[in-house]
Amino acid sequence: MAQAEIGLIGLGVMGSNLALNIAEKGNKIAVFNRTVDATRKFYAEAGELQGQIVPCETIEEFVAAIRPPRPIIIMIKAGDPVDQQMELLKPYLEKNDIMIDAGNANFRDTMRRFENLKDSGLTFIGMGVSGGEEGARHGPSIMVGGTEDSWKRVEKVLTSIAAKYNEDPCVAWLGENGAGHFVKTIHNGIEYADMQMIAEIYGILRDGLKMSATEIGEVFGTWNRGRLNSYLIEITEKVLKAADPITGGPIVDLILDKAGQKGTGKWSAIEAQNMGVPATAIEAAVAARSISSMKEEREAAEKVLGLPGGELDIADKAAFVKDLESALLAAKIGAYAQGFAVMSAASKEFGWNLPMPTIARIWRAGCIIRSQFLDEITTAFTKDPDVANLIVTPAFAAMVKETDGALRRVVSAAVLAGLPVPALASALGYFDSYRRSRGTANVIQAQRDFFGAHGFDRTDGKDSHHGPWGSGLNA
Ligand code: 6PG
Repeated sequence: MAQAEIGLIGLGVMGSNLALNIAEKGNKIAVFNRTVDATRKFYAEAGELQGQIVPCETIEEFVAAIRPPRPIIIMIKAGDPVDQQMELLKPYLEKNDIMIDAGNANFRDTMRRFENLKDSGLTFIGMGVSGGEEGARHGPSIMVGGTEDSWKRVEKVLTSIAAKYNEDPCVAWLGENGAGHFVKTIHNGIEYADMQMIAEIYGILRDGLKMSATEIGEVFGTWNRGRLNSYLIEITEKVLKAADPITGGPIVDLILDKAGQKGTGKWSAIEAQNMGVPATAIEAAVAARSISSMKEEREAAEKVLGLPGGELDIADKAAFVKDLESALLAAKIGAYAQGFAVMSAASKEFGWNLPMPTIARIWRAGCIIRSQFLDEITTAFTKDPDVANLIVTPAFAAMVKETDGALRRVVSAAVLAGLPVPALASALGYFDSYRRSRGTANVIQAQRDFFGAHGFDRTDGKDSHHGPWGSGLNA
């Protein structure tokens, strides 16, 4: 029997779906799970794909079933379990075999795993996979980090299973070691910002315009047929219109307003801070999830402080709803510009040479942030791959100029009505700070010099780097 092209360990939801996708695209795959029952159940339910699947009950059998050099996808819970699984696997592997971590790993763990395998003859791929269960089964977006040789070994299989945007596969080799997992992390950071901004707009419609969930669903449905067309807007319409099977009312009204988070948004914000790159929309989104989880404290605070009394001051509701659409687009531009700026800094910091047009290209389909908008980003970065910031490319500068007025009106109205819009406001603040050549940090520099003699540069270039604070001003 011909050997399998690839192996997969971990038949949980994501692993099973990925394995079925691989098999369905005509690739023979060996599978293994820690508990044998899961392997048997998976195989029994694989139907007509069974012919492409080699179910294995021992690691020896599993490794022997794969054609060397063996690519082995590990799809298990991120963190220590991956290290443990790698240790278990290592004694059975041979030179040039490739362990592939397809979970949402912290790229620093991926870098460490690379480093640890350096002299072992084995190699490693850190692979970001986006698209959830459905994506894994029918076409995810795949972000690969590793050696070019290891990429070449898996390119064919991964290309066959990736989502396609107009025939163009959403998979690419993005660079060495942690590049793939870093890009996946930033994908998730942007996902957090996108989701938070949508939630803020929903809040304005619900609490400001007093619209029902179903009515708001209609608004998102309309927007999904326009410039905001994207997977997240599409599912927002669906979740807002879904009825609760128990009460018959909108399910969204019954869902507790406490958001979970598994870490990728936080890592994006931390890495942005580490490199000194402003990613305020992502940071605001992470902070908003944290504040959402403080439900009991928020309930207590509302009793003590009350809600700000202002009503949303809107003369023309239809025009305001149009403004909300443009505001969301403007804020989204800010979030994506920040995410790409973080990747560009990381590319230099870690020596990856990350290809910005390619990243935008492979996010156009398959992943959670997939959208028409990413096609526009692909075009902008293809024309100008080394641009300092997406918002100064001609196409996006024009979009910012066209929509930032709406963002300003929406943020102002929401702030006056006491409706929280931290991510939308952060995007506006980002535009306003980034586009202003004369800022206010001269005061900060003067203060730093005053209390700490930290020095400053002068605008006239003169060689005098301290202020006249000594002459009695310190008293
Ligand atoms: C994706 C998703 C996926 C997952 C996140 C959710 O790209 O397919 O981002 O990776 O849904 O882990 O993260 P939180 O639980 O932190 O929201």
